[in-house]
Amino acid sequence: MFEVKSVTTNEQLQQAFAIRTKVFVEEQGVPVHLELDEHDKTALHFIVMDGDTTIAAARLREFEPQVGKVERVCVLSEYRGKRLGILLMEYIEQVAKESNLKKLKLNAQSYAVPFYEKLQYVVTSPEFMDAGIPHRAMEKNI
Ligand SMILES: CC(C)(COP(=O)(O)OP(=O)(O)OC[C@H]1O[C@@H](n2cnc3c(N)ncnc32)[C@H](O)[C@@H]1OP(=O)(O)O)[C@@H](O)C(=O)NCCC(=O)NCCS
Repeated sequence: MFEVKSVTTNEQLQQAFAIRTKVFVEEQGVPVHLELDEHDKTALHFIVMDGDTTIAAARLREFEPQVGKVERVCVLSEYRGKRLGILLMEYIEQVAKESNLKKLKLNAQSYAVPFYEKLQYVVTSPEFMDAGIPHRAMEKNI
């Protein structure tokens, strides 16, 4: 009943933005001008659907040759702990492989490092602050 989709319509893109706003802006207090940025125009976007309802989102962009960056990974709070984060990340990894990317990078909120470690990402940086939230850089060869 849960389905990951690559965003292909403006309506789906607006749904992805709505989930991100709910999670990062309303729940975590990230300023909206940092949450939505210029990379949204060129990134690939993904959503998870529960029937007709959008419940999770993320984006992927190539930022170095053959290296992708996964960003804005978020699941609505009431849907967490149901392995939807894993479902979404595995889908993105498949798309990345099909796009001939060889490595994925991301900046994990420090509390979420164990989530990405379950997906075989490794920490590559000390902790740093971004949008007022502690982060660690992580990456995975795919
Ligand atoms: C991080 C996030 C995407 C995880 O999504 P989720 O759907 O709840 O995660 P899953 O249910 O797929 O979890 C998969 C595994 O990771 C573990 N996990 C998930 N979040 C974790 C956390 N914060 N700490 C430790 N383990 C965690 C789960 O226990 C589960 O383990 P299991 O395989 O042993 O059962 C979600 O908590 C979220 O949207 N958070 C708010 C936004 C955010 O901070 N995003 C990260 C930005 S870097």
